[in-house]
Amino acid sequence: MTENPIFNPEVEDYYEILAPDYDEIRFGNSYGKYIDKQERAFLKKVFSKHPNQNLIVDLACGSGRFLEFADEGVDISNAMASIAQQKFTDKKIHVTTGNKLPYQDNSVDMIFSFHLLMHLKKQAVNSIFLEVNRTLRPGGIFLFDVPTTRRRNIFKRTTENWHASTSFGNQEEEYWKNSGWEIMKTGGVALFPVHRIPEFLRKYVVHLDILFCKTPLRNFASYKMYLLRKL
Ligand SMILES: C[S@@+](CC[C@H](N)C(=O)[O-])C[C@H]1O[C@@H](n2cnc3c(N)ncnc32)[C@H](O)[C@@H]1O
Repeated sequence: MTENPIFNPEVEDYYEILAPDYDEIRFGNSYGKYIDKQERAFLKKVFSKHPNQNLIVDLACGSGRFLEFADEGVDISNAMASIAQQKFTDKKIHVTTGNKLPYQDNSVDMIFSFHLLMHLKKQAVNSIFLEVNRTLRPGGIFLFDVPTTRRRNIFKRTTENWHASTSFGNQEEEYWKNSGWEIMKTGGVALFPVHRIPEFLRKYVVHLDILFCKTPLRNFASYKMYLLRKL
């Protein structure tokens, strides 16, 4: 286990156990495919607009769902990292926590991180932000997704444990803007209540969701994706 007091060891343990079944359980069903399609569409768009990056890191790469977009991966879980390594034998994957990245100051062009910050306490999130800021070059990009506080307030959604327990909203956006980041672009994921859409319809409805999330309605989506630029 990685010792780092601001991180909850339960998170690491959870993924160590889930690792062999992660792809199937999380993304083998129509809900996972719905989310994946929206996130992937956003990633593709970002990469088409920001080509020719020298070093792109997938932070919390997990089993490698988006590792095709990165040069290297980082994950706290040995088990998740080794599954990713089997899929991407040519890529370097580092087993470490997100606030101890194995990179020099100002040396990375882009860091992206999906489904990580939502599981962490605010103190841990802040320490990851500091580390990403240290390692990115000026003008470098940080891309991540988080649950939206606005949506949670509307639906009065509460969480039972650490899983997806942290949401983000205006307060965090203001803080990022005042602490060395520019918000370049945002995207939404799951504007429609996916669980209420019949499974056989989800693969069609997702295209409409993608379209609607190109409008300000994305601010009401379940998750928001942010593209921040280090100033
Ligand atoms: C829900 S999975 C997401 C994996 C991948 N990004 C995806 O979207 O499919 C969360 C991942 O974050 C990793 N993780 C949790 N805490 C971490 C930390 N402090 N530093 C780095 N990785 C962490 C877990 O091991 C797990 O692989």
